[in-house]
Order: sequence, then structure tokens, then C-alpha cells
Amino acid sequence: MSHQDPPAPPALTWTEKNYRALEKFVLSYSGIIMDRVAQKGVRDRITQHILSLGVSSVEDYLLLLHSRKSAALRGELISLITVSESYFFRNPDQFRYIARTLLPRLAENRQELGLRREIRVLSAGCSTGEETYSLAAICLWFQRRHPDLAITVVGADINPRNVEQAREGLYRARSFRKVSRDLRHEFGFPLYREIPDGYAVEEDLRRFVQFKTLNLKDLDALKCHAGSDIIMCRNVLIYFEDTFRNALMQMFQGLLNPGGMLFLGETESLAVVPAGFELVPCLRAYGYRKLHPTVHSP
Ligand SMILES: C[S@@+](CC[C@H](N)C(=O)[O-])C[C@H]1O[C@@H](n2cnc3c(N)ncnc32)[C@H](O)[C@@H]1O
Repeated sequence: MSHQDPPAPPALTWTEKNYRALEKFVLSYSGIIMDRVAQKGVRDRITQHILSLGVSSVEDYLLLLHSRKSAALRGELISLITVSESYFFRNPDQFRYIARTLLPRLAENRQELGLRREIRVLSAGCSTGEETYSLAAICLWFQRRHPDLAITVVGADINPRNVEQAREGLYRARSFRKVSRDLRHEFGFPLYREIPDGYAVEEDLRRFVQFKTLNLKDLDALKCHAGSDIIMCRNVLIYFEDTFRNALMQMFQGLLNPGGMLFLGETESLAVVPAGFELVPCLRAYGYRKLHPTVHSP
């Protein structure tokens, strides 16, 4: 090499063994099957990421990933493998159903079921928050008409960076691409305001939701959502292996109050309706309603 030559770019050595070790880590950490989701170029993105950390081997990167303090790093890896794509009021019929049918029914049934006048909503795998704020807009609108009713809306994602962005509530036009101007005014309050380089979720709406980092693979951590009435987990299951997906369905069934509903992504309908649920048409979409124990018993 002459003095003028730039230094050779650092390279990583991938082997069958270290790639399989990474796949195994991702599966046990998040339930995600890399093979199923890894789009073209994912290995290159991971390579760039590892090098940007100043780490020079896949083996050292794996060691780092296992360290207790590496939650952000693990989240970053997940974001390289999955797509964090989301937008406001995605699959709008589910939201229409929640506003027009489900919330009024849940509010009505509280007394009959011996439940507190609180409705609990979880948006699981919420990415950067668009889904959670859409739910929150509907819930805030409903709650203002039923002031005696408390509603909590929680958005949760494995990736701390997504959760941070969700908390900030700052978006580009892309996130609102399916929101018509009418919808902005339908609620009787503005959902967001324009700022120089995008949109900011209005303070009332921001205060109405909580965001947290949550790994769905950690079923124990999910237990604090027992007593939920609405769980949205959309465009997340596609990444998971079947056994974990089934365990998660069972978990959601256990977390929901009777009559509560689970909503999955448009293309994620399950081949078999999971035990303890019934399939409910929601205009042109679907949801899964938890059966009352009496209906469920054999
Ligand atoms: C395509 S986004 C879906 C966003 C939103 N639910 C929607 O449908 O618009 C998938 C999200 O799932 C999250 N995710 C993947 N595995 C997860 C896990 N084990 N626990 C929690 N979130 C997970 C990813 O970080 C990503 O933000």
C-alpha cells in the first residue's frame, strides 16, 4: 500500500456458524424468525451497524448483545430486521368499529360484568406511536362524552428508540397519509398541529397515552396488562414463530376482560380462531372477541 492509498474499509467475517448464532439470539430474545422476515440487504445493514459501533467481529457483537446493559442495542438490531412502518388510522374499519360499537358496548357492560368504570387499551408492538395515538384520539373523544369513565391507553414496543419517538409525538406527512382533513375535525379537537418540518401531536392527546418498552417475548412482563379491554397487536405476529405466536394468543386471551377484543393486522388473520375467542366482523375488517367464560366452557 502506498502512502496515498486510503485505508482498506474494515470488514466483518460472516460464517454459517456466527450467522446461525445471531439468528438464534434474535429468536430467543424476541420470538422473531430472521429467515422469515429478513429482507434483502439485512445482513449488509447489520454489518454496517456492527462496524459503526467500532466492533470488529460478529462474535464480539454477540457478546455485547447478551450484556444486561444493551437494551438499546438489542432494540436497534430488531429495527434492522423488522419494518417499523406505521401510520395513523391504518386499517380504519377497526378504528370505526371501536369508536361506534366496541367502546359504547364496553362502557355499558361494566356494571353487568362487575368491572370498574375503567377501560384499558394496549397497543402492543406500537412502533413509533401512530397506532397508539389513533386509539387515543378515539378514546379521548369517547371519554369526553362519558366523563365518569376512565380510559387508559398504553403503547409498547421492544425498540426503545421507537418508544422515544412515540413519546415525542413528532411526525412527517407520511404518517398521516391515510388521514383525511375531515377526520382531523371529526373528533371535536385537533389531533395535531403543523410545525416547521412536520406535525406535532396535540398536548391533550400526548398526555392521554403512556409509552413503554416491552418485549412481547417476556410473557411475565405482559402480566401487568391483565384486565385489558382492547389489545391491538398489528403487523407484529408476522415476524414470530408459530409456537410463540400461539402462546401470545393465549396470553392475550388471559389478559382481556370478557367481551374485550384483540385486533391483528389486516394480513394476519389466523387460520384457526384461537381458543377462547370468537371472530367478529368489524365493517370490512375483523377482530377477535374474548368469549365469556360460560360460553367458553366445554
Ligand atoms: C411493522 S411495526 C407495526 C406497527 C403498528 N402496530 C402498525 O401496525 O402500524 C412492527 C413493530 O413490532 C415491534 N416488535 C417486533 N418484535 C417485538 C417484540 N418481541 N415485542 C414488542 N414489539 C416487537 C417492532 O419493533 C416494530 O416496531
